[in-house]
Amino acid sequence: MTIITSAEPDGGVHGMTANGVLSVSLDPPLALVCVGKSRNTHGFISADGWFGISIIRKDQRDIAMYYVRDAADRIGDVDVPLEQRNEGPPVIAGALAAMSCKVVAEHDAGDHTIFVGEAVQLSTSEGDPLLYYTGKFGKIELD
Ligand SMILES: Cc1cc2nc3c(=O)[nH]c(=O)nc-3n(C[C@H](O)[C@H](O)[C@H](O)COP(=O)(O)O)c2cc1C
Repeated sequence: MTIITSAEPDGGVHGMTANGVLSVSLDPPLALVCVGKSRNTHGFISADGWFGISIIRKDQRDIAMYYVRDAADRIGDVDVPLEQRNEGPPVIAGALAAMSCKVVAEHDAGDHTIFVGEAVQLSTSEGDPLLYYTGKFGKIELD
């Protein structure tokens, strides 16, 4: 599961839970995110030209649930640790992997826009990923 972060105009950090995320290219390192045109995140990425991708751990489920809510219902009841970056919005601290992406292309795709970003800063941590399957968040069970 991933959290897409973006910069709010007042300097705040905005989050959105997303599974429309894909790696695209190794050289240069590109990743894409599919963002609904009605999402707050859409306006923030369009205006700022940057987004963060954080692949979160299974024990960060509360953060995924928090950033699914409508923005008006995010009342600060979940602690979201953030990590500042050299460029672009902060990412989720302690995420399995996080990258800061500068938008290099935008593709219209129905009610979503595909933002392609060049990853300029990548960080990784240890842990197990949070997954989403059949409408539920969960974890991998290996034999
Ligand atoms: C599992 C899951 C995956 C989601 N993936 C996406 C996605 O890839 N793109 C998207 O635009 N919204 C996605 N959403 C919906 C957003 O997380 C949700 O609408 C959020 O409130 C948008 O926040 P914002 O409007 O403040 O940016 C997903 C929701 C869930 C539960």
